[in-house]
Order: sequence, then structure tokens, then C-alpha cells
Amino acid sequence: MEAAAEAKTEAKTETAAAAGAETEAKAEAKSGAETEAHSRSRTPSRRALLGWGGAGLALGAVAAGGTAAALRLGDDDKSPAAAEGEAVPFYGPHQAGIATPVQDRLHFAAFDVRTDDREQLIKLLKEWTAAAARMTAGHEVGEGAISDNDELPPDDTGEALGLKPSRLTLTFGIGPTLFEKDGKDRFGLKGRRPKALIDLPPFPGDNLDPARSGGDLCVQACADDPQVAVHAIRNLARIGMGRVAIRWSQLGFGKTSSTTPDAMTPRNMMGFKDGTRNIAGTETDRLDKFVWVGEKDADGWMAGGSYLVARRIRMHIETWDRTSLKEQEDVFGRDKAEGAPQGKRRERDEPNLRVLKPTAHVRLAHPDSNAGATILRRGYSFTDGTDGLGRLDAGLFFIAYQRDVRDGFVPIQTRLSRSDALNEYIQHVGSAVFAVPPGVRDKDDWWGRTLFG
Ligand code: HEM
Repeated sequence: MEAAAEAKTEAKTETAAAAGAETEAKAEAKSGAETEAHSRSRTPSRRALLGWGGAGLALGAVAAGGTAAALRLGDDDKSPAAAEGEAVPFYGPHQAGIATPVQDRLHFAAFDVRTDDREQLIKLLKEWTAAAARMTAGHEVGEGAISDNDELPPDDTGEALGLKPSRLTLTFGIGPTLFEKDGKDRFGLKGRRPKALIDLPPFPGDNLDPARSGGDLCVQACADDPQVAVHAIRNLARIGMGRVAIRWSQLGFGKTSSTTPDAMTPRNMMGFKDGTRNIAGTETDRLDKFVWVGEKDADGWMAGGSYLVARRIRMHIETWDRTSLKEQEDVFGRDKAEGAPQGKRRERDEPNLRVLKPTAHVRLAHPDSNAGATILRRGYSFTDGTDGLGRLDAGLFFIAYQRDVRDGFVPIQTRLSRSDALNEYIQHVGSAVFAVPPGVRDKDDWWGRTLFG
């Protein structure tokens, strides 16, 4: 039944695409002022409705079965959910989702670009930006999930109706293959590939699956509600149909790093506090030094942006679970209960690297062991069913942001891959690197403008 409905939707989409000029005109209208007039928010939660001026009216409309009418009541940026402070601003000098306090859930997607047409690609990026601005504010895409014209598939898929913005952030990146693939300068961008966007070298122990690696574009969706994150990726993929296709995607839960030091440090799937010594979202000096590309850096169009490294790291948790507590603590160089560096008492005490085992993860990853290399970690745990051998396919979806991949991930991972005691319990199975352009400044700006513009 579901498949049939999907087929019908696809068929409808094809029909809509074939409608040519009419559809084009509709799409243009969406990005313009008219869209604003028609814009509507997701339905507010019941709690939000009660605290909202229009509560009686909205509840009355819902009670009367006037679903579509009720949806329209939560118009524009004054949506109750946004007013509750659960929407993260989309516009700004940097993209949200990097220094933003880490949300609980992740849906990360890498896309292959299927069109060769530069103008089509630019058009898509503009449509994506408009949709991302709306979804992060808690609004539906385009004219919403319940449109006036029931002959066409709705603009929004609908599963986030009634949900709050949930601090959704959408962070957009560009992979090396968009600049050049198989020796081909696909979009006239070859000369603009940033020096810092290198192809990662092979590291000892890598067992990378090409089907879970690479990508021309990526979108990192983070939200406190998994359905909101999934809805966002799904709708971007839907908008891109025919022009992009999802190459791989990863769901994540249980954030494994903190950018808010006051909050309790989350634990990873190995049971250890993870993200203790990370760059905090409030440390503007360190963000400028290690995360944001500077105005004077080599590639001007990236100023205000950052570089993202994603690694799918499988954990052999069954082996780990049979390892003694002492060995587990030696592997990281921190104690399991408090998260304190070995030889110290509290989690935030500075580690004394010399007392840690030479193979301890924290010792090897520390900036002092890597000529000062420092990255912002923003990873998530994953479990994707089993591997067919009675073991969980579980691990860490590692995400790191840095000003230059050559000064961040590469030196640290070079050292870790050679000597980290953790290597006995993990394997890197997916890998990707992306240039994450600066933030979208306002409604006239769009993802990637500084590259294409
Ligand atoms: C499954 C793989 C991994 C696990 C389970 C893991 C876990 C941990 C834990 C528990 C800590 C100590 C707490 C903290 O300061 O966050 C830590 C620190 C750290 N990890 Fe990892 N990590 C993994 C992979 C990586 C990779 C691939 C990198 C980078 C290439 C990395 C870089 C770091 C850094 C920079 C630190 C902080 C070191 C310091 O300044 O003290 N980790 N990791």
C-alpha cells in the first residue's frame, strides 16, 4: 500500500515536472514574496497553543476538523514554537550546526550530483536554501503539506507537522568531486577547489566502503527530535529529485561530544565521557583560530566557513565488553566513572600526558602530541542493526570541523592510526571530507553563493 502510494506520488511528481512552464512559474513564486504570504508553520504543540494569543481560535479550528485552516494559523516567524526559543537562527556569518550547542540526533546525508548543468545546480542550491530556512524555523516547505491543490503532491512531506523546530540545524558542504571528478571539470569550478580540501590520505587500518564514502554535496541535519532531522533530509532530497541523489546517509543518536562545557558530558558507546576537551561554542578566539576559515586564508570564498571530516567508525563492542575495566581506562587514559585523566581526580583537570600509557588515545590525540593540531568534534553514536554475524553494527559517526584539514584531522589521525590502543576495538569503514561554506547572510543569499557567484 505504502509502495503504491509512493509510486503514485512519483508519478504525480513526473507529471508535475512535465508540466514545464507552469511548474517553473510555481517554483519561482515559491521563492518570492508570494510564498511568504502563503507561508505557514508546523502546527504548534498543545502546550504552545495554550500559551499563544490565538489559542482559542486554533483549538476551535482543530476541534471542528478544520486541519488545513488550523495549519495556516501559525503563520510566519512568530510561530509559537520559534517563540519558545527552540529554533536556531539560520542566517549569520557562519553556518549553524558547527558551534551550535550539540543537539541529540543526527541525520547526515551525502549526495551525488546527477546534472551536468551548472545553472540547474545553482537553482537547486537556491531552492535548498529557501527550504532549509523554512524548516529550521519550524515551517513547512513551500506551500506546505496540505496544499489547496490536491491534484499535485504537496510541497512538504508532512511528517513534521505538529513538531517543534527542535533546534534543527542544516549544515551544507561541498565535496572534492564537485570541483573535479575523473579528471573532468564538471561545473567550471576546478580552479576554485580550496587547497585545504584535500583528498584524505589512506591511514593504516582503514577499511573504507566506497558506498559509505565521498559525496559531491552533504547536508548535516541535527535536531533534538529525530523525526525533524529525518524530515529535513527527506524534503531536501525530494526537492533535488533528478538533480541529486542520496549517495549514503547516516542516522546518529546520543551525541558523543559537547560544545557546551557546563552541560553533562555525554558518553559514547564504549561507556566513556566523550567531548570533555572539545572547543566550546562560546570560545570565539579558539573558533577563529581552529575552526573558521579566515579572511586572509588562501581561498577567499571560504572565509567564515570550515572543513568537515566525517568518518564512520565501527566499534567491536562485543570485544570491548569483554575487556577489563583497567584495560578500558588505559586505552583512553581516563577513568570511566568521572572521566578524569589518569593520575588526576576531576574530569576537567588538565591531563598530565607523561603519566598516561604511550598508546593512550587521549595522549596521542592531545594537541601537545600533534604540534598544536586542534579540531571541533561533533560526532554521534550509531547502531545500524547487525552485521549478520551476530554482532551489532555499532560505533561512532565521527564528525570534526577545522580551519584546514591538513592542520587538523590529518596529523591527529596519522598519529592515532599508527599507535592508538583503541585501534584494537575500532575500524574506520566510511570517510568523507567537505568544504562547508560561510553562513547564509539573509533571504537573498544562498548556500554556495560565494563559490558560484
Ligand atoms: C571510535 C573512535 C573514538 C572514540 C571512541 C573516541 C573517544 C574519545 C574519548 C573518550 C576522549 C576523551 C574525552 C574527551 O576529551 O573528549 C577522546 C578525546 C579526543 N579524541 Fe577521540 N575517540 C575516537 C576517535 C577519534 C578520532 C578519529 C579523532 C581524530 C582524528 C579523535 C580525536 C580526539 C581528540 C582531539 C581528543 C581530545 C584530546 C585532548 O585534547 O585531551 N578521536 N576521544
